[in-house]
Amino acid sequence: MRVASVTGVRRILVTGGSGVLGSHVVRLARERGDDVRVLSRQPGVGTHRGDLSTGGGVADALDGVELVVHAASDTPQGRTDLRQTRTLLDAGQRLRHLLYVSIVGIDVMPYGYYGRKLACEQLIAAGAVPYTIQRATQFHELLERGLRAAGRLPLAPLPLAWQVQPIAAAEVAQRIVALIGEAPAGRVVDLGGPEVLTATRVVDVWRARHGRPRTVVNVHPPGRTARAFRRGLNTTPQHADGVQTWEQFVRRGA
Ligand SMILES: NC(=O)c1ccc[n+]([C@@H]2O[C@H](COP(=O)([O-])OP(=O)(O)OC[C@H]3O[C@@H](n4cnc5c(N)ncnc54)[C@H](OP(=O)(O)O)[C@@H]3O)[C@@H](O)[C@H]2O)c1
Repeated sequence: MRVASVTGVRRILVTGGSGVLGSHVVRLARERGDDVRVLSRQPGVGTHRGDLSTGGGVADALDGVELVVHAASDTPQGRTDLRQTRTLLDAGQRLRHLLYVSIVGIDVMPYGYYGRKLACEQLIAAGAVPYTIQRATQFHELLERGLRAAGRLPLAPLPLAWQVQPIAAAEVAQRIVALIGEAPAGRVVDLGGPEVLTATRVVDVWRARHGRPRTVVNVHPPGRTARAFRRGLNTTPQHADGVQTWEQFVRRGA
């Protein structure tokens, strides 16, 4: 594998570069002058077409690449995430740096998707490719998507006692792009949004701006996962380094 750093331009590949976070990473890295490839399963979406589940197209996308930002995920469940990460590690054995985007609290939250993310982290840590793992809290954009869906229901059942610490995906991307310029560092400090909020507050702010969902019913899902979200194990108040608040995000352009 040839590395294209003789010109000082880093050639990087962003998996998930068509996604919410990845598209910000691609934009910011290009603004900084990096030569950025985007892997996507969809024709015409990225610079390289490929599927991490099957491995098709991946070797070609990695040819000459020195660093990968791995932001692809089989969201929302992550069923193929471990396979995807294994494909990447196998095909990218000569990478200088693998930068993996993960989620705060996945080691203490009994939740299927998080368990799969943790397995990916462990696979990366056990492998030979130098790596950095950046965990972040839930993106504003994720809450927005959920609330838009809830707004289409005549009555929205929501777990109002759950806690979140939402952050703008663009700010997570800024952190990721800063890490591109650093040496592989293993797991780095978590990144959280500027404030920990109850879902009640999240919903109130959204409804004040959008008027929906018209009717909300507080639900108390049973089980360990729901308890963990109520306790806020998905938050990192000591790393509330995000800047844009949920309210600012919701009111943008208002
Ligand atoms: N959303 C959050 O609140 C949040 C919080 C913290 C961390 N994270 C992590 O940040 C990362 C990005 O999340 P996101 O919300 O931005 O994701 P997203 O918008 O759902 O995008 C998922 C991306 O994964 C790609 N992908 C899925 N399966 C693939 C496959 N088999 N082969 C190649 N590409 C595949 C998709 O590309 P195509 O469809 O174009 O192929 C898409 O670009 C994830 O690892 C997630 O766990 C998310």
